[in-house]
Amino acid sequence: MTKQWWKEAVIYQIYPRSFKDSNGDGIGDINGIISKLDYLKELGIDVIWLSPVYQSPNDDNGYDISDYRAIMDEFGTMADWEMLLDEMHKRGIKLIMDLVVNHSSDEHAWFMDSRKAKDNPYRDYYIWREGKDGKEPNNWESVFSGSAWEYDEATGEYFLHLFSKKQPDLNWENPKLRREVYDMMNYWLEKGIDGFRMDVINFISKVPELPDARIPEGKQYAPGGDYFMNGPRIHEFLQEMNKETVSQYDVMTVGEMPGASVEEAKLYTDENRHETNMVFQFEHVDLDAGPGGKWDLRPLKLADLRDNFTKWQKGLEEIGWNSLYLNNHDQPRMVSRFGNDKTYRVESAKMLATFLHTLKGTPYIYQGEELGMTNVRFDTIDDYRDIEILNMYREKVIENGEDVQKVMESIYVKGRDNARTPMQWDESEHAGFTTGTPWLKVNPNFKEINAKRATADSNSVFHYYRNLIQLRKQNPIMVYGSYDLILPDHEQIYAYVRRYEGQTLLVMLNFSSEKSVFELPTDVSYVDKKLFIHNYEVSDDESIEKIELKPYEARVYMLK
Ligand code: NOJ
Repeated sequence: MTKQWWKEAVIYQIYPRSFKDSNGDGIGDINGIISKLDYLKELGIDVIWLSPVYQSPNDDNGYDISDYRAIMDEFGTMADWEMLLDEMHKRGIKLIMDLVVNHSSDEHAWFMDSRKAKDNPYRDYYIWREGKDGKEPNNWESVFSGSAWEYDEATGEYFLHLFSKKQPDLNWENPKLRREVYDMMNYWLEKGIDGFRMDVINFISKVPELPDARIPEGKQYAPGGDYFMNGPRIHEFLQEMNKETVSQYDVMTVGEMPGASVEEAKLYTDENRHETNMVFQFEHVDLDAGPGGKWDLRPLKLADLRDNFTKWQKGLEEIGWNSLYLNNHDQPRMVSRFGNDKTYRVESAKMLATFLHTLKGTPYIYQGEELGMTNVRFDTIDDYRDIEILNMYREKVIENGEDVQKVMESIYVKGRDNARTPMQWDESEHAGFTTGTPWLKVNPNFKEINAKRATADSNSVFHYYRNLIQLRKQNPIMVYGSYDLILPDHEQIYAYVRRYEGQTLLVMLNFSSEKSVFELPTDVSYVDKKLFIHNYEVSDDESIEKIELKPYEARVYMLK
Protein backbone atom coordinates (compact mmCIF):
# COMPACT_ATOMS: atom_id res chain seq x y z
CA MET A 1 0.00 0.00 0.00
CA THR A 2 1.51 3.32 -1.09
CA LYS A 3 1.61 6.42 1.06
CA GLN A 4 -0.25 9.37 -0.46
CA TRP A 5 -1.12 12.85 0.79
CA TRP A 6 -4.79 12.30 0.07
CA LYS A 7 -4.83 9.22 2.29
CA GLU A 8 -3.48 11.28 5.17
CA ALA A 9 -5.74 14.27 4.59
CA VAL A 10 -8.96 15.25 6.32
CA ILE A 11 -11.42 16.79 3.88
CA TYR A 12 -14.08 19.38 4.68
CA GLN A 13 -17.05 19.85 2.40
CA ILE A 14 -18.48 23.31 1.81
CA TYR A 15 -21.95 23.73 0.36
CA PRO A 16 -21.44 27.35 -0.65
CA ARG A 17 -25.07 28.40 -0.77
CA SER A 18 -25.40 27.68 2.95
CA PHE A 19 -21.95 28.47 4.31
CA LYS A 20 -21.53 32.23 4.75
CA ASP A 21 -23.13 35.20 3.00
CA SER A 22 -20.93 38.29 2.69
CA ASN A 23 -23.23 40.69 0.81
CA GLY A 24 -26.62 40.34 2.50
CA ASP A 25 -28.53 38.70 -0.36
CA GLY A 26 -29.32 35.67 1.80
CA ILE A 27 -27.12 33.34 -0.27
CA GLY A 28 -23.70 32.11 0.79
CA ASP A 29 -20.83 33.24 -1.44
CA ILE A 30 -17.11 33.00 -2.13
CA ASN A 31 -16.14 36.05 -0.09
CA GLY A 32 -18.07 34.52 2.78
CA ILE A 33 -15.92 31.39 2.50
CA ILE A 34 -12.73 33.45 2.45
CA SER A 35 -13.83 35.16 5.67
CA LYS A 36 -14.05 31.77 7.38
CA LEU A 37 -10.77 30.21 6.24
CA ASP A 38 -9.11 30.97 9.56
CA TYR A 39 -11.89 29.08 11.32
CA LEU A 40 -11.20 26.07 9.08
CA LYS A 41 -7.48 26.42 9.61
CA GLU A 42 -8.09 26.31 13.36
CA LEU A 43 -10.13 23.15 12.91
CA GLY A 44 -7.10 21.71 11.16
CA ILE A 45 -8.55 20.31 7.93
CA ASP A 46 -6.26 19.81 4.92
CA VAL A 47 -8.57 19.97 1.92
CA ILE A 48 -11.84 21.67 1.04
CA TRP A 49 -14.27 20.02 -1.35
CA LEU A 50 -16.32 22.86 -2.74
CA SER A 51 -19.76 21.92 -4.04
CA PRO A 52 -20.44 23.54 -7.45
CA VAL A 53 -19.80 27.27 -7.82
CA TYR A 54 -20.18 27.37 -11.61
CA GLN A 55 -22.75 29.39 -13.55
CA SER A 56 -26.11 27.74 -13.04
CA PRO A 57 -29.84 28.50 -13.09
CA ASN A 58 -29.96 26.63 -9.76
CA ASP A 59 -32.68 24.15 -10.46
CA ASP A 60 -30.61 21.76 -8.30
CA ASN A 61 -28.46 24.36 -6.50
CA GLY A 62 -25.52 24.38 -8.88
CA TYR A 63 -25.59 20.69 -9.85
CA ASP A 64 -27.14 21.95 -13.10
CA ILE A 65 -24.31 23.83 -14.80
CA SER A 66 -24.88 26.25 -17.67
CA ASP A 67 -21.24 27.34 -18.01
CA TYR A 68 -18.43 25.13 -16.73
CA ARG A 69 -15.85 27.88 -17.02
CA ALA A 70 -17.65 30.69 -15.20
CA ILE A 71 -18.55 31.42 -11.59
CA MET A 72 -22.18 31.72 -10.52
CA ASP A 73 -23.14 35.42 -10.21
CA GLU A 74 -24.69 34.86 -6.77
CA PHE A 75 -21.40 33.47 -5.50
CA GLY A 76 -19.07 36.14 -6.89
CA THR A 77 -16.61 36.48 -9.75
CA MET A 78 -13.67 34.55 -11.16
CA ALA A 79 -11.41 37.06 -9.40
CA ASP A 80 -13.08 36.17 -6.08
CA TRP A 81 -12.59 32.48 -6.81
CA GLU A 82 -8.91 33.05 -7.64
CA MET A 83 -8.53 34.94 -4.39
CA LEU A 84 -10.14 32.01 -2.56
CA LEU A 85 -7.70 29.52 -4.06
CA ASP A 86 -4.84 31.82 -3.22
CA GLU A 87 -5.94 32.38 0.37
CA MET A 88 -6.44 28.65 0.84
CA HIS A 89 -3.03 27.77 -0.54
CA LYS A 90 -1.44 30.44 1.66
CA ARG A 91 -2.89 28.59 4.64
CA GLY A 92 -1.78 25.20 3.34
CA ILE A 93 -5.33 24.12 2.49
CA LYS A 94 -5.98 22.36 -0.82
CA LEU A 95 -9.07 22.78 -3.00
CA ILE A 96 -11.02 20.11 -4.81
CA MET A 97 -13.77 21.24 -7.15
CA ASP A 98 -17.02 19.46 -7.94
CA LEU A 99 -17.15 18.00 -11.43
CA VAL A 100 -20.71 17.53 -12.69
CA VAL A 101 -20.49 15.92 -16.10
CA ASN A 102 -23.13 13.21 -16.14
CA HIS A 103 -25.46 16.04 -17.09
CA SER A 104 -25.42 19.78 -17.72
CA SER A 105 -28.13 22.38 -17.32
CA ASP A 106 -30.71 22.66 -20.11
CA GLU A 107 -29.53 26.29 -20.23
CA HIS A 108 -26.00 25.25 -21.25
CA ALA A 109 -25.15 26.52 -24.76
CA TRP A 110 -24.56 22.91 -25.89
CA PHE A 111 -28.09 21.89 -24.98
CA MET A 112 -29.70 25.01 -26.37
CA ASP A 113 -28.06 24.16 -29.72
CA SER A 114 -28.72 20.46 -29.36
CA ARG A 115 -32.47 20.88 -29.08
CA LYS A 116 -32.72 23.13 -32.17
CA ALA A 117 -32.57 20.45 -34.87
CA LYS A 118 -31.78 16.77 -35.34
CA ASP A 119 -28.80 17.64 -37.51
CA ASN A 120 -27.38 20.29 -35.19
CA PRO A 121 -23.67 19.62 -34.52
CA TYR A 122 -24.43 19.50 -30.77
CA ARG A 123 -27.34 17.05 -31.13
CA ASP A 124 -25.16 14.12 -30.11
CA TYR A 125 -23.86 15.82 -26.99
CA TYR A 126 -27.09 14.60 -25.36
CA ILE A 127 -29.22 11.47 -25.40
CA TRP A 128 -32.19 11.90 -27.75
CA ARG A 129 -34.66 9.18 -28.72
CA GLU A 130 -37.98 8.84 -30.51
CA GLY A 131 -41.03 7.97 -28.42
CA LYS A 132 -42.32 4.38 -28.28
CA ASP A 133 -46.03 3.79 -28.98
CA GLY A 134 -46.82 7.41 -28.22
CA LYS A 135 -44.96 7.19 -24.88
CA GLU A 136 -41.49 7.77 -23.50
CA PRO A 137 -38.60 5.82 -25.13
CA ASN A 138 -38.32 3.62 -22.01
CA ASN A 139 -39.84 3.28 -18.56
CA TRP A 140 -36.98 4.69 -16.44
CA GLU A 141 -37.76 6.87 -13.48
CA SER A 142 -35.89 10.07 -12.70
CA VAL A 143 -34.07 10.17 -9.35
CA PHE A 144 -36.19 13.26 -8.70
CA SER A 145 -39.54 11.50 -9.43
CA GLY A 146 -41.54 11.04 -12.65
CA SER A 147 -40.25 9.87 -16.02
CA ALA A 148 -36.56 10.24 -16.87
CA TRP A 149 -37.57 11.50 -20.33
CA GLU A 150 -38.83 14.89 -21.44
CA TYR A 151 -40.54 15.47 -24.76
CA ASP A 152 -39.22 18.37 -26.79
CA GLU A 153 -41.63 20.00 -29.23
CA ALA A 154 -39.03 21.49 -31.57
CA THR A 155 -37.81 18.16 -32.95
CA GLY A 156 -40.53 15.80 -31.68
CA GLU A 157 -38.08 13.65 -29.71
CA TYR A 158 -37.40 12.96 -26.05
CA PHE A 159 -34.17 13.66 -24.14
CA LEU A 160 -32.93 11.66 -21.15
CA HIS A 161 -32.57 13.27 -17.73
CA LEU A 162 -31.75 10.95 -14.84
CA PHE A 163 -32.22 13.92 -12.51
CA SER A 164 -34.48 16.96 -13.06
CA LYS A 165 -35.77 17.85 -16.51
CA LYS A 166 -33.43 20.82 -16.38
CA GLN A 167 -30.48 18.41 -16.10
CA PRO A 168 -30.22 16.62 -19.47
CA ASP A 169 -27.74 13.72 -19.49
CA LEU A 170 -24.61 14.18 -21.57
CA ASN A 171 -23.81 11.57 -24.20
CA TRP A 172 -20.46 10.04 -23.25
CA GLU A 173 -20.55 7.78 -26.32
CA ASN A 174 -19.64 10.91 -28.28
CA PRO A 175 -15.83 11.42 -28.34
CA LYS A 176 -16.28 15.14 -29.05
CA LEU A 177 -18.20 15.60 -25.81
CA ARG A 178 -15.54 13.68 -23.91
CA ARG A 179 -12.84 15.93 -25.37
CA GLU A 180 -14.78 19.04 -24.28
CA VAL A 181 -15.00 17.67 -20.73
CA TYR A 182 -11.28 16.89 -20.55
CA ASP A 183 -10.37 20.35 -21.87
CA MET A 184 -12.61 21.92 -19.26
CA MET A 185 -11.02 19.82 -16.51
CA ASN A 186 -7.57 20.91 -17.66
CA TYR A 187 -8.71 24.52 -17.62
CA TRP A 188 -9.33 24.22 -13.86
CA LEU A 189 -6.26 22.08 -13.23
CA GLU A 190 -4.16 24.74 -14.92
CA LYS A 191 -5.57 27.28 -12.48
CA GLY A 192 -3.96 25.22 -9.74
CA ILE A 193 -6.76 23.24 -8.10
CA ASP A 194 -5.91 20.06 -6.23
CA GLY A 195 -8.47 17.65 -7.59
CA PHE A 196 -12.09 16.81 -8.30
CA ARG A 197 -15.07 15.28 -6.58
CA MET A 198 -16.95 13.66 -9.45
CA ASP A 199 -20.72 13.83 -9.31
CA VAL A 200 -22.52 10.50 -10.03
CA ILE A 201 -19.59 9.63 -12.22
CA ASN A 202 -20.50 5.93 -12.46
CA PHE A 203 -23.70 6.94 -14.33
CA ILE A 204 -21.94 8.23 -17.45
CA SER A 205 -21.89 4.98 -19.43
CA LYS A 206 -25.41 3.82 -20.31
CA VAL A 207 -26.27 0.46 -21.89
CA PRO A 208 -26.71 1.80 -25.45
CA GLU A 209 -30.07 0.11 -26.10
CA LEU A 210 -31.50 1.82 -22.99
CA PRO A 211 -33.71 -1.19 -22.20
CA ASP A 212 -36.88 -1.04 -20.09
CA ALA A 213 -36.39 -1.99 -16.45
CA ARG A 214 -38.70 -3.83 -14.06
CA ILE A 215 -41.40 -1.60 -12.58
CA PRO A 216 -41.91 -2.17 -8.84
CA GLU A 217 -45.45 -2.95 -7.72
CA GLY A 218 -47.68 0.08 -7.46
CA LYS A 219 -45.25 2.34 -9.31
CA GLN A 220 -45.54 3.98 -12.70
CA TYR A 221 -41.83 4.09 -13.60
CA ALA A 222 -38.82 1.84 -13.01
CA PRO A 223 -35.47 2.53 -11.39
CA GLY A 224 -33.22 1.87 -14.39
CA GLY A 225 -29.97 1.70 -12.41
CA ASP A 226 -28.98 -1.69 -13.82
CA TYR A 227 -28.62 -0.01 -17.21
CA PHE A 228 -26.68 3.10 -16.26
CA MET A 229 -24.81 2.46 -13.01
CA ASN A 230 -21.31 1.04 -13.55
CA GLY A 231 -22.21 0.72 -17.25
CA PRO A 232 -20.37 -1.12 -20.03
CA ARG A 233 -17.75 1.55 -20.86
CA ILE A 234 -17.33 3.15 -17.44
CA HIS A 235 -13.80 1.89 -16.78
CA GLU A 236 -12.68 2.86 -20.27
CA PHE A 237 -14.08 6.39 -19.82
CA LEU A 238 -12.51 6.86 -16.40
CA GLN A 239 -9.13 5.64 -17.61
CA GLU A 240 -9.27 7.90 -20.62
CA MET A 241 -10.26 10.85 -18.43
CA ASN A 242 -7.43 10.10 -16.02
CA LYS A 243 -4.90 9.90 -18.82
CA GLU A 244 -6.07 13.09 -20.51
CA THR A 245 -6.34 15.18 -17.35
CA VAL A 246 -5.49 14.45 -13.72
CA SER A 247 -2.61 12.03 -14.33
CA GLN A 248 -0.56 15.02 -15.39
CA TYR A 249 -0.94 16.77 -12.02
CA ASP A 250 -0.41 15.92 -8.34
CA VAL A 251 -4.11 15.93 -7.51
CA MET A 252 -6.75 13.66 -6.02
CA THR A 253 -10.09 12.39 -7.26
CA VAL A 254 -13.11 10.99 -5.50
CA GLY A 255 -15.95 9.57 -7.55
CA GLU A 256 -19.48 9.71 -6.23
CA MET A 257 -20.83 6.26 -7.11
CA PRO A 258 -24.30 5.22 -6.03
CA GLY A 259 -24.77 1.50 -6.58
CA ALA A 260 -21.05 0.65 -6.56
CA SER A 261 -20.29 -2.62 -4.75
CA VAL A 262 -17.01 -3.38 -2.98
CA GLU A 263 -15.89 -5.40 -5.99
CA GLU A 264 -16.58 -2.50 -8.32
CA ALA A 265 -14.97 -0.02 -5.94
CA LYS A 266 -11.85 -2.14 -5.99
CA LEU A 267 -11.66 -1.74 -9.75
CA TYR A 268 -12.38 1.99 -9.55
CA THR A 269 -9.69 2.63 -6.93
CA ASP A 270 -6.97 0.08 -7.73
CA GLU A 271 -3.84 2.22 -7.99
CA ASN A 272 -2.66 0.25 -10.99
CA ARG A 273 -5.80 0.94 -13.01
CA HIS A 274 -5.66 4.76 -12.92
CA GLU A 275 -9.36 5.52 -12.63
CA THR A 276 -10.11 7.35 -9.33
CA ASN A 277 -8.40 7.54 -5.93
CA MET A 278 -11.50 6.72 -3.92
CA VAL A 279 -15.24 6.48 -4.26
CA PHE A 280 -18.23 7.61 -2.26
CA GLN A 281 -20.23 4.42 -1.96
CA PHE A 282 -23.83 4.43 -0.73
CA GLU A 283 -24.48 1.11 0.97
CA HIS A 284 -24.28 2.40 4.53
CA VAL A 285 -26.65 5.27 3.84
CA ASP A 286 -29.20 2.90 2.27
CA LEU A 287 -29.49 0.64 5.32
CA ASP A 288 -32.40 2.60 6.76
CA ALA A 289 -34.43 2.51 3.53
CA GLY A 290 -37.12 -0.07 2.76
CA PRO A 291 -37.98 -1.65 -0.61
CA GLY A 292 -39.83 1.55 -1.59
CA GLY A 293 -36.56 3.52 -1.62
CA LYS A 294 -35.16 6.36 0.45
CA TRP A 295 -38.50 7.74 1.68
CA ASP A 296 -39.62 4.30 2.86
CA LEU A 297 -38.29 4.61 6.43
CA ARG A 298 -36.78 1.68 8.30
CA PRO A 299 -35.03 1.67 11.67
CA LEU A 300 -31.29 1.29 11.40
CA LYS A 301 -29.73 -1.77 13.04
CA LEU A 302 -26.24 -1.56 14.49
CA ALA A 303 -25.51 -5.05 13.21
CA ASP A 304 -26.20 -3.96 9.63
CA LEU A 305 -24.06 -0.85 9.94
CA ARG A 306 -21.18 -2.80 11.46
CA ASP A 307 -21.36 -5.62 8.89
CA ASN A 308 -21.40 -3.11 6.10
CA PHE A 309 -18.48 -1.01 7.29
CA THR A 310 -16.51 -4.15 8.03
CA LYS A 311 -17.18 -5.46 4.52
CA TRP A 312 -15.79 -2.24 3.02
CA GLN A 313 -12.86 -2.02 5.43
CA LYS A 314 -11.78 -5.57 4.65
CA GLY A 315 -12.73 -5.40 0.96
CA LEU A 316 -10.43 -2.46 0.20
CA GLU A 317 -7.72 -3.53 2.61
CA GLU A 318 -5.09 -4.50 0.04
CA ILE A 319 -6.34 -2.87 -3.14
CA GLY A 320 -8.05 0.51 -3.30
CA TRP A 321 -8.92 3.06 -0.66
CA ASN A 322 -12.05 4.01 1.30
CA SER A 323 -13.64 7.40 1.68
CA LEU A 324 -15.37 7.81 5.04
CA TYR A 325 -18.53 9.85 5.49
CA LEU A 326 -21.72 9.79 7.50
CA ASN A 327 -23.36 12.85 5.97
CA ASN A 328 -23.07 15.44 3.21
CA HIS A 329 -25.35 17.89 1.37
CA ASP A 330 -27.55 15.00 0.17
CA GLN A 331 -27.93 13.19 3.47
CA PRO A 332 -29.58 14.00 6.79
CA ARG A 333 -27.38 15.21 9.65
CA MET A 334 -25.34 12.34 11.08
CA VAL A 335 -26.05 13.06 14.75
CA SER A 336 -29.80 12.92 14.07
CA ARG A 337 -29.51 9.76 12.03
CA PHE A 338 -26.89 7.61 13.73
CA GLY A 339 -26.73 9.28 17.15
CA ASN A 340 -29.17 10.98 19.49
CA ASP A 341 -29.69 14.67 18.74
CA LYS A 342 -31.59 15.34 21.98
CA THR A 343 -30.27 13.95 25.29
CA TYR A 344 -26.87 12.89 23.98
CA ARG A 345 -26.25 15.28 21.12
CA VAL A 346 -22.72 16.23 22.13
CA GLU A 347 -21.72 12.76 23.28
CA SER A 348 -23.06 11.00 20.20
CA ALA A 349 -21.61 13.59 17.81
CA LYS A 350 -18.20 12.96 19.36
CA MET A 351 -18.68 9.20 19.31
CA LEU A 352 -19.53 9.26 15.60
CA ALA A 353 -16.55 11.51 14.92
CA THR A 354 -14.32 9.02 16.71
CA PHE A 355 -15.76 6.30 14.51
CA LEU A 356 -15.07 8.09 11.22
CA HIS A 357 -11.58 9.19 12.12
CA THR A 358 -10.41 5.85 13.45
CA LEU A 359 -11.48 3.81 10.43
CA LYS A 360 -9.13 3.16 7.55
CA GLY A 361 -9.75 5.63 4.73
CA THR A 362 -10.00 9.38 4.16
CA PRO A 363 -12.52 11.14 6.45
CA TYR A 364 -14.90 13.77 5.06
CA ILE A 365 -16.46 16.35 7.39
CA TYR A 366 -19.58 18.11 6.14
CA GLN A 367 -19.98 21.76 7.18
CA GLY A 368 -21.62 22.04 10.59
CA GLU A 369 -20.85 18.42 11.48
CA GLU A 370 -18.01 19.76 13.61
CA LEU A 371 -20.62 21.66 15.65
CA GLY A 372 -22.99 18.73 15.97
CA MET A 373 -25.63 20.47 13.82
CA THR A 374 -28.93 18.57 13.65
CA ASN A 375 -31.85 17.88 11.32
CA VAL A 376 -34.65 20.43 11.14
CA ARG A 377 -38.47 20.18 11.18
CA PHE A 378 -40.22 22.96 9.29
CA ASP A 379 -44.01 22.96 9.78
CA THR A 380 -44.97 23.33 6.14
CA ILE A 381 -43.69 22.20 2.78
CA ASP A 382 -43.52 25.89 1.79
CA ASP A 383 -40.37 26.27 3.89
CA TYR A 384 -38.50 23.58 1.93
CA ARG A 385 -36.43 24.38 -1.17
CA ASP A 386 -34.89 21.13 -2.41
CA ILE A 387 -36.16 19.94 -5.81
CA GLU A 388 -36.00 16.31 -4.71
CA ILE A 389 -38.26 17.01 -1.72
CA LEU A 390 -40.65 19.23 -3.66
CA ASN A 391 -41.05 16.80 -6.58
CA MET A 392 -41.58 13.86 -4.22
CA TYR A 393 -44.16 15.82 -2.21
CA ARG A 394 -46.02 16.82 -5.37
CA GLU A 395 -46.11 13.26 -6.65
CA LYS A 396 -47.11 11.65 -3.36
CA VAL A 397 -49.40 14.21 -1.75
CA ILE A 398 -50.83 16.28 -4.57
CA GLU A 399 -51.01 13.70 -7.36
CA ASN A 400 -51.55 10.51 -5.32
CA GLY A 401 -53.33 11.82 -2.23
CA GLU A 402 -50.93 10.25 0.28
CA ASP A 403 -51.06 11.30 3.92
CA VAL A 404 -49.40 14.70 4.41
CA GLN A 405 -48.12 13.94 7.91
CA LYS A 406 -46.52 10.69 6.82
CA VAL A 407 -44.78 12.38 3.91
CA MET A 408 -43.61 15.28 6.12
CA GLU A 409 -42.23 12.76 8.61
CA SER A 410 -40.14 11.17 5.86
CA ILE A 411 -38.84 14.63 4.92
CA TYR A 412 -37.89 15.27 8.56
CA VAL A 413 -35.89 12.07 8.60
CA LYS A 414 -34.38 11.96 5.11
CA GLY A 415 -34.82 15.30 3.32
CA ARG A 416 -31.70 16.92 1.88
CA ASP A 417 -32.63 20.32 3.29
CA ASN A 418 -31.72 18.92 6.74
CA ALA A 419 -28.11 19.36 5.69
CA ARG A 420 -28.63 22.60 3.81
CA THR A 421 -29.96 24.92 6.52
CA PRO A 422 -27.45 27.74 6.89
CA MET A 423 -24.26 27.22 8.83
CA GLN A 424 -24.72 28.38 12.43
CA TRP A 425 -22.00 30.91 13.17
CA ASP A 426 -23.26 32.74 16.26
CA GLU A 427 -26.38 33.60 18.27
CA SER A 428 -27.27 36.74 16.28
CA GLU A 429 -30.20 36.87 13.86
CA HIS A 430 -30.10 34.12 11.20
CA ALA A 431 -27.21 32.59 13.12
CA GLY A 432 -24.79 35.15 11.69
CA PHE A 433 -25.10 33.50 8.28
CA THR A 434 -26.56 36.57 6.57
CA THR A 435 -27.79 40.08 7.32
CA GLY A 436 -30.55 39.54 4.75
CA THR A 437 -33.22 36.86 4.48
CA PRO A 438 -31.67 33.41 4.16
CA TRP A 439 -32.67 31.39 1.08
CA LEU A 440 -33.53 28.50 3.42
CA LYS A 441 -34.51 29.12 7.05
CA VAL A 442 -31.98 28.68 9.80
CA ASN A 443 -32.44 25.77 12.22
CA PRO A 444 -34.12 27.30 15.32
CA ASN A 445 -31.56 25.64 17.60
CA PHE A 446 -28.80 28.05 16.50
CA LYS A 447 -28.63 29.89 19.83
CA GLU A 448 -27.38 26.72 21.48
CA ILE A 449 -25.49 25.22 18.54
CA ASN A 450 -23.12 27.67 16.85
CA ALA A 451 -19.46 28.11 15.99
CA LYS A 452 -18.89 31.02 18.34
CA ARG A 453 -19.98 29.02 21.36
CA ALA A 454 -18.20 25.88 20.20
CA THR A 455 -14.84 27.51 19.60
CA ALA A 456 -15.00 29.15 23.05
CA ASP A 457 -15.78 25.88 24.84
CA SER A 458 -12.85 23.49 25.13
CA ASN A 459 -15.28 20.62 25.71
CA SER A 460 -17.22 21.19 22.49
CA VAL A 461 -17.70 18.91 19.51
CA PHE A 462 -15.53 21.37 17.56
CA HIS A 463 -12.51 20.92 19.83
CA TYR A 464 -13.01 17.17 19.83
CA TYR A 465 -12.74 17.21 16.01
CA ARG A 466 -9.63 19.38 16.26
CA ASN A 467 -8.11 16.87 18.58
CA LEU A 468 -8.96 13.92 16.30
CA ILE A 469 -7.48 15.70 13.29
CA GLN A 470 -4.26 16.45 15.17
CA LEU A 471 -4.00 12.87 16.40
CA ARG A 472 -4.30 11.64 12.85
CA LYS A 473 -1.38 13.80 11.78
CA GLN A 474 0.79 12.40 14.57
CA ASN A 475 -0.25 8.74 14.37
CA PRO A 476 0.09 6.97 11.03
CA ILE A 477 -1.73 3.99 12.57
CA MET A 478 -4.96 5.99 12.15
CA VAL A 479 -4.31 6.22 8.42
CA TYR A 480 -2.46 3.07 7.46
CA GLY A 481 -3.24 0.59 10.26
CA SER A 482 -5.12 -2.62 9.45
CA TYR A 483 -8.73 -3.05 10.66
CA ASP A 484 -10.12 -6.00 12.58
CA LEU A 485 -13.55 -6.24 14.10
CA ILE A 486 -13.88 -7.48 17.68
CA LEU A 487 -17.11 -8.33 19.57
CA PRO A 488 -18.89 -9.00 16.24
CA ASP A 489 -22.24 -9.78 17.88
CA HIS A 490 -22.54 -7.09 20.51
CA GLU A 491 -25.99 -5.48 20.56
CA GLN A 492 -24.89 -1.93 21.41
CA ILE A 493 -21.14 -1.69 21.00
CA TYR A 494 -19.13 -1.46 17.80
CA ALA A 495 -15.49 -2.26 18.60
CA TYR A 496 -12.40 -2.90 16.50
CA VAL A 497 -8.63 -2.80 16.53
CA ARG A 498 -6.26 -1.08 14.14
CA ARG A 499 -2.70 -2.43 13.97
CA TYR A 500 0.46 -0.86 12.57
CA GLU A 501 4.17 -1.33 13.23
CA GLY A 502 3.77 -3.06 16.61
CA GLN A 503 1.05 -0.73 17.87
CA THR A 504 -2.63 -1.49 18.38
CA LEU A 505 -5.39 1.07 18.53
CA LEU A 506 -8.36 -0.32 20.44
CA VAL A 507 -11.63 1.45 19.57
CA MET A 508 -14.83 0.97 21.59
CA LEU A 509 -17.99 2.79 20.59
CA ASN A 510 -21.31 2.55 22.35
CA PHE A 511 -23.91 3.18 19.65
CA SER A 512 -26.83 3.30 22.10
CA SER A 513 -28.55 5.50 24.70
CA GLU A 514 -28.06 2.73 27.30
CA LYS A 515 -25.06 1.79 29.38
CA SER A 516 -23.35 -1.20 27.92
CA VAL A 517 -20.60 -3.58 28.93
CA PHE A 518 -17.43 -4.04 26.90
CA GLU A 519 -15.29 -7.13 27.51
CA LEU A 520 -11.87 -7.35 25.97
CA PRO A 521 -11.44 -10.49 23.83
CA THR A 522 -8.57 -12.67 25.06
CA ASP A 523 -6.73 -12.50 21.74
CA VAL A 524 -6.12 -8.74 22.07
CA SER A 525 -2.90 -8.72 24.05
CA TYR A 526 -0.79 -5.85 25.35
CA VAL A 527 1.79 -4.95 27.96
CA ASP A 528 1.15 -1.26 28.03
CA LYS A 529 -2.03 0.75 27.50
CA LYS A 530 -2.67 4.46 27.23
CA LEU A 531 -5.88 6.44 26.71
CA PHE A 532 -5.83 7.92 23.22
CA ILE A 533 -9.12 9.82 22.96
CA HIS A 534 -12.42 9.67 24.86
CA ASN A 535 -15.68 11.63 25.08
CA TYR A 536 -16.40 11.23 28.84
CA GLU A 537 -14.13 11.83 31.83
CA VAL A 538 -12.19 8.63 32.54
CA SER A 539 -9.10 7.83 34.48
CA ASP A 540 -6.10 6.38 32.71
CA ASP A 541 -5.55 3.54 35.14
CA GLU A 542 -8.99 1.94 34.75
CA SER A 543 -8.75 -1.70 33.72
CA ILE A 544 -9.79 -2.40 30.12
CA GLU A 545 -10.65 -6.07 30.55
CA LYS A 546 -14.22 -5.13 31.41
CA ILE A 547 -15.72 -1.65 31.11
CA GLU A 548 -19.21 -0.31 31.48
CA LEU A 549 -19.53 2.25 28.70
CA LYS A 550 -21.91 5.16 29.22
CA PRO A 551 -24.50 6.15 26.56
CA TYR A 552 -22.69 6.90 23.29
CA GLU A 553 -19.35 6.64 25.01
CA ALA A 554 -16.30 6.40 22.75
CA ARG A 555 -13.00 5.26 24.17
CA VAL A 556 -9.83 4.62 22.28
CA TYR A 557 -6.65 3.13 23.77
CA MET A 558 -3.20 2.80 22.32
CA LEU A 559 -1.82 -0.63 23.21
CA LYS A 560 1.76 -1.75 22.96
C1 NOJ B 1 -25.33 14.09 -6.63
C2 NOJ B 1 -25.23 15.41 -5.93
O1 NOJ B 1 -24.51 15.25 -4.76
C3 NOJ B 1 -26.65 15.89 -5.71
O2 NOJ B 1 -26.72 16.99 -4.86
C4 NOJ B 1 -27.25 16.18 -7.05
O3 NOJ B 1 -28.61 16.50 -6.90
C5 NOJ B 1 -27.14 14.98 -7.99
N1 NOJ B 1 -25.88 14.31 -7.94
C6 NOJ B 1 -27.34 15.42 -9.41
O4 NOJ B 1 -26.25 16.20 -9.83
